[in-house]
Amino acid sequence: MKYRSVVVTRRGGPDVFRIVEHALREPTIGETRIRILATTVSAPDIQARYGHTPFPPRVPFVPGYAIIGVVDAVGEGVTKAAAGDRVGALTITGGYAEYIYLNQDELIPVPVALDPAEAVTLILNYLVAYQVMHRSARVRSGDKVLIVGASGGIGTAFLQLGRLAHLTMFGIASRSKHHILVEHGATPIDYHTQDFVEVILNAEPDGLHAVFDGMGGDYVRRGLSVLRRGGTLVVYGNPLSLLGLVRLLARVVVFNLLPNGKRVKVFGTTVSRFNRRPFEEDWAVLFRLLEERRINPIIAKRFPLMEAAEANALLESGRTAGNVVLVAPELLEAPGTVQEDAEYR
Ligand SMILES: NC(=O)c1ccc[n+]([C@@H]2O[C@H](COP(=O)([O-])OP(=O)(O)OC[C@H]3O[C@@H](n4cnc5c(N)ncnc54)[C@H](OP(=O)(O)O)[C@@H]3O)[C@@H](O)[C@H]2O)c1
Repeated sequence: MKYRSVVVTRRGGPDVFRIVEHALREPTIGETRIRILATTVSAPDIQARYGHTPFPPRVPFVPGYAIIGVVDAVGEGVTKAAAGDRVGALTITGGYAEYIYLNQDELIPVPVALDPAEAVTLILNYLVAYQVMHRSARVRSGDKVLIVGASGGIGTAFLQLGRLAHLTMFGIASRSKHHILVEHGATPIDYHTQDFVEVILNAEPDGLHAVFDGMGGDYVRRGLSVLRRGGTLVVYGNPLSLLGLVRLLARVVVFNLLPNGKRVKVFGTTVSRFNRRPFEEDWAVLFRLLEERRINPIIAKRFPLMEAAEANALLESGRTAGNVVLVAPELLEAPGTVQEDAEYR
């Protein structure tokens, strides 16, 4: 039997994808075979395709940072999963495929009642927002915060989790997407036409408790200027190259030496490889929030798994808000599945 994956064949735009067939093999010792139900299409996939990340994957590779699937077969010695289990994983690569092979230790238990397209947004985007807010910035009810990139996959997760945490939120996004920020109780700022430092310091002369920055560059220096003493700026955006990462870390050291009572922290999900426990705890919290419908992931569009090129082109165009997700064919055809199609110009 064969299965298909969507492969990046060279660095470049969404036209570099090819669909490739592979033989379906049995899992090896400790390994599980997962039939993929949903996978994220996210900014890191695009950046990896162009090679714009500190450690780009070698070409050819299959993108797909997070998945939800069903265990299809298990290898010898697997005790933590059984055929039929609903699972998720932070795969970093490999999600744009009908099947993936993962070690049993990489699997995250996922409640079967959840829509896989919604659940998969929790594995990456909501996890980043939750950990930046609660583990890095340690926000408290009533805190005033700025979300840079508030209309994106992670940004909209911040909006929903920030509202649950009773934060006063300012959000930076293009004007055509401001209604989403307003619906979540945030004050929108248009980065094309407004100076966010001026807007925030006019509204909050004492400054903010936290800034969540997914863009980097000058946002770090300017974000610090809207923080109050004791405030924290968390940078989670991709520094785009190894040199960018080194420069960012050097600037963070310097900023933290300044005697202004403000802190800068850098957040990255790669630490999940070394210390999984906080990730497992936070995924469990997020799945519970979704089961209770206290969060409602915004899905701009669901595409069939093999239409990754079209999905990448849409995300790259900047015409979406929230999440873009690839799903298995039965989820597109399932009765009651909503085919959202919100695009912005
Ligand atoms: N640290 C980690 O572990 C981790 C994990 C995942 C992702 N990331 C990184 O986090 C960043 C955001 O990812 P995402 O998935 O949320 O991206 P996304 O869904 O593509 O959203 C990008 C956001 O950035 C905004 N934006 C674009 N240009 C801007 C500018 N000049 N100033 C202010 N905002 C601007 C967009 O606003 P409009 O569309 O409204 O114009 C949009 O809200 C990426 O760099 C990604 O690599 C890091």
